[in-house]
Amino acid sequence: MTKKKRAGIWQRRFSKPVNNDMLRFTASTEEDVCLIEYDIAASIAHVKMLRKQKIIPGRQARSLIRGLRQIRTEYLKGKFRLLPEHEDVHMNIEMRLQELIGSTGQYLHTARSRNDLVAADLRLYARAAIAKLIKKIIMIQKKLLESARKYKTVVMPGYTHLQNAQPVLWSFYVLSYVYRFQRDIECLQYALKRVNISPLGSCAFAGTTHAIDPDYTTRLLGFDRFADNGLDAVTDRDFLGEVSYICTQIMLHCSGFAEDMILYVTREFSLIELDESIATGSSIMPQKKNPDVFELIRVRAGNAIGNLTGLLSMFKGLPSAYNRDLQETKKVFFRQVENTFQCLDMSDMVIPYLRPQKNIWAEQENIICATGLADYLVQKGYAFRQAYDMIAQCVKESKGKVDKFIKKCVNMMKIKEEMIRSLIKPKNAVKAVKSKSGTGPKQTNQAMRRAERLVRKNQQFVRQIRTSSAAV
Ligand code: ARG
Repeated sequence: MTKKKRAGIWQRRFSKPVNNDMLRFTASTEEDVCLIEYDIAASIAHVKMLRKQKIIPGRQARSLIRGLRQIRTEYLKGKFRLLPEHEDVHMNIEMRLQELIGSTGQYLHTARSRNDLVAADLRLYARAAIAKLIKKIIMIQKKLLESARKYKTVVMPGYTHLQNAQPVLWSFYVLSYVYRFQRDIECLQYALKRVNISPLGSCAFAGTTHAIDPDYTTRLLGFDRFADNGLDAVTDRDFLGEVSYICTQIMLHCSGFAEDMILYVTREFSLIELDESIATGSSIMPQKKNPDVFELIRVRAGNAIGNLTGLLSMFKGLPSAYNRDLQETKKVFFRQVENTFQCLDMSDMVIPYLRPQKNIWAEQENIICATGLADYLVQKGYAFRQAYDMIAQCVKESKGKVDKFIKKCVNMMKIKEEMIRSLIKPKNAVKAVKSKSGTGPKQTNQAMRRAERLVRKNQQFVRQIRTSSAAV
């Protein structure tokens, strides 16, 4: 880098030196590190287009591309740093290019603006983030499915209002999260349609007198199409809001799962033994084994909601076209995406450690099976409400004590004790479930196979998402 201080590119228009504190305050070099590779890719595509359209000579174009590739190499080697005095990633790259290839660097910014450039960079970043999010969710889905297969016969209490409700298979429970995460993937796929549109060629907003070919840069960068209106293209940050919302939804799913685990590992629930490799201890209570990792995943959903509302409030009431406010949205967006990556990685990491406890519970009579018993009575000819009332009466009179309950049922329903006992064993109650999407073993197996097919489709989808560096 040159030692001699040269005024920044746009500063040459002013007769006074610009206040340095202001420059530091207005710089975006810290967050722009996330955009370096995309900015270089967008610039290479732009130069190739300028050359094809004969807007710049071939020799200059070759030199520009060589210089840009060299900056990419420097960046990958950790040798390219963004200097705040050059304000942002775009100016830093242009300055470095001029250092590397001299005055030829001055051809780079023909027929473009930082307004369409930053929008393009952000879309490339968002596209890569979508691919990464989908990949991470697929990993989680696979681990959940492994757990579902491994503990296929394990039966656990299902809860509503956090009260014992009906027995379910562990695999049925775990699958519910595979499907929740599936919706996140579908949202991301849908969002990609709006993310993958090129603004590059809109220039400041109004277009250019040069005979550019924006469809060519669109193709080179793997975008689906070029934006229809330049003013909209440089203004639009809807996709940041949309992807941030989806990240929030993912985080809500992670936090729901974390919350379940926090409960399930307690002595009170005792459904899962907290593995020591993912537990933390107490500095004063020697007996403690805490699930801090899950608590931190849980709280991060709060951060995600904060980031989302923060981002949306920055968009409120902005005038058309580029306004510097938009610069600040990048920080929040990157934070949102990184936060989601981290929590997905942690959720993925912990799943193999989740081993449901021994299955003795499933073999013992339990009034959690009362609904199944009512269904049995309906099959024997009672109206459901009649069956419900009879069982409710037995629950009331036995005060929920299972042996008393069985006796009351035998007396009231004229059914053999053995039969009642068998009906209210959680293991049998689960087996008796026949409805589609229910917890019956056959239905759960079908749901598992369907989920496996969905995961394979997800993998196919993610493989075809273009990455910018492959294109240029
Ligand atoms: N540093 C700006 C950003 O990150 C780039 C666009 C600047 N455009 C402008 N007209 N000042 O958003």
